[in-house]
Amino acid sequence: MSGSESIFDLVQSHRITAVIYAAAKLDLAETLGDDAKSAAELARLVSAEESALRRLLVALTTIGVCNQTGGDRFGMTDLGRQLDRNAYPSFKDWVLFEGEVLVRSWAGLVDSVRSGKTATEIRGEGHDRYAVMGNSPEVVSRFNAAMVSLTRSLVPKIVQAYDFSKANIVMDLGGGSGELIAGVLLHNPNLRGIAFDLARCETAAREHFNRVGIADRCRFVAGDFFEAVPRGADTILMKSILHNWRDDRSEIILRKCRDALPVGGKLIIIERIMPELPTTAARDRERAMSDLNMLREPGGLERTEAQYRALAESAGFTFAGISNAGAFSLLQFDKVAN
Ligand SMILES: C[S@@+](CC[C@H](N)C(=O)[O-])C[C@H]1O[C@@H](n2cnc3c(N)ncnc32)[C@H](O)[C@@H]1O
Repeated sequence: MSGSESIFDLVQSHRITAVIYAAAKLDLAETLGDDAKSAAELARLVSAEESALRRLLVALTTIGVCNQTGGDRFGMTDLGRQLDRNAYPSFKDWVLFEGEVLVRSWAGLVDSVRSGKTATEIRGEGHDRYAVMGNSPEVVSRFNAAMVSLTRSLVPKIVQAYDFSKANIVMDLGGGSGELIAGVLLHNPNLRGIAFDLARCETAAREHFNRVGIADRCRFVAGDFFEAVPRGADTILMKSILHNWRDDRSEIILRKCRDALPVGGKLIIIERIMPELPTTAARDRERAMSDLNMLREPGGLERTEAQYRALAESAGFTFAGISNAGAFSLLQFDKVAN
């Protein structure tokens, strides 16, 4: 995108979102698998109108999601296979969330830039988007599934970036339906784990722990991290948590973590790190877009490394290092004294 010469081209980016969302909604990746099919056959299989579907397939080909293998036959590229629910990595649930929830949210971006408020605050529904989301179980499901798809793609990088075998009990704070803690435990057979999140995540987390065979060493604890964080873990991990909250709210979460940890306990914050000086590099753009996503909902921000260090240090932690996990970084902190 840094090579774009025309605003006319750039402003049409939402069409790409719509094209990818349509492909996901029609289950094109699952239906094609590793085969190529004619537009006519595919139209029959996914209940679409043939010539309209062919036009969608041509558009998908131009963005590298499909390829046309000769004649009228289309297949999925490696990129396109990420739309298959059963692929690894699969971003299907993220695409559905982007297309159904985020697209609507972003339509009001200018209102948040004018006011500095989230969509929820502008509607007068309060300051806690997660509490409000609880009134829409279908949005909670979409959101949780989207987070699983993103986090699952990062687990191999996270377990490479930090040696969890030194810990005894790791708690994933705001661990959702347990994707990350399960991944960490599967890579560390002697480790025990806790997923801490709102009660609405409990059933999915317990099912996941049973499915992957770690239910005997991983438990779910329901609670509110603004109220209290349970004791028991020597390492607290949190991914994509602090970027949801402004500094005053983040400091409360961090202080509760510090209270819950023993002296010598570890805190690991996994987030995207904002560049000090933004460029047109894809990585910087992704972070800046995530930052605006946080502005719109739920009201947090992406931070620089210096900002994360200042935040954790203000809550009483000592910086211990940073490592990379794909587009995310692991910031490590110690609790050195009570
Ligand atoms: C952006 S998601 C991150 C989920 C998971 N850590 C991941 O990266 O896949 C934020 C999580 O914080 C949880 N959460 C929000 N408010 C909370 C609260 N007050 N107490 C505990 N968890 C909360 C949400 O339910 C959600 O699972």
